[in-house]
Amino acid sequence: MKTIITYGTFDLFHYGHVRLFERLSEMCDELIVGVSTDEFNALKGKAAFFSFEQRAEIVSACRFVTKVIPEQNWQQKSEDVSRYDVDIFAIGDDWEGKFDFLKSQCEVLYLTRTDSISTTEIKDNLAIKAA
Ligand code: CTP
Repeated sequence: MKTIITYGTFDLFHYGHVRLFERLSEMCDELIVGVSTDEFNALKGKAAFFSFEQRAEIVSACRFVTKVIPEQNWQQKSEDVSRYDVDIFAIGDDWEGKFDFLKSQCEVLYLTRTDSISTTEIKDNLAIKAA
């Protein structure tokens, strides 16, 4: 039984998110996704269009995901890795090197992001079209 955990905001769920989950699901039996809460996003200086509850509902509905948990702070990752007996911590390479401190607990993987798509880009493009 192999378990992977990943984290993110996953606002305006798009195919870059789907492909990340699909690639991860091919490497494990259980894919746990930590969805950033609205409070944690505020701390990161990020504001999501969809609420935490809505984003968690959407991520849960993705067939590659087996479990969704709230991501509430920076410190919880190490606790989650122990709690869920995680084999691999994985995240997009925009975070390259940032979570190497987990290497003492599990494998740490930085995956190449899908090209030319991001929540920010969607928001910017919609704003331009509306203007
Ligand atoms: N991700 C990805 N490919 C993309 C966009 C995101 O693999 N094209 C991954 C990120 O690397 C991260 C996860 O999806 O591991 C969640 O990223 P998130 O920040 O929620 O999505 P973004 O589209 O990058 O959102 P934003 O523009 O707000 O940063």
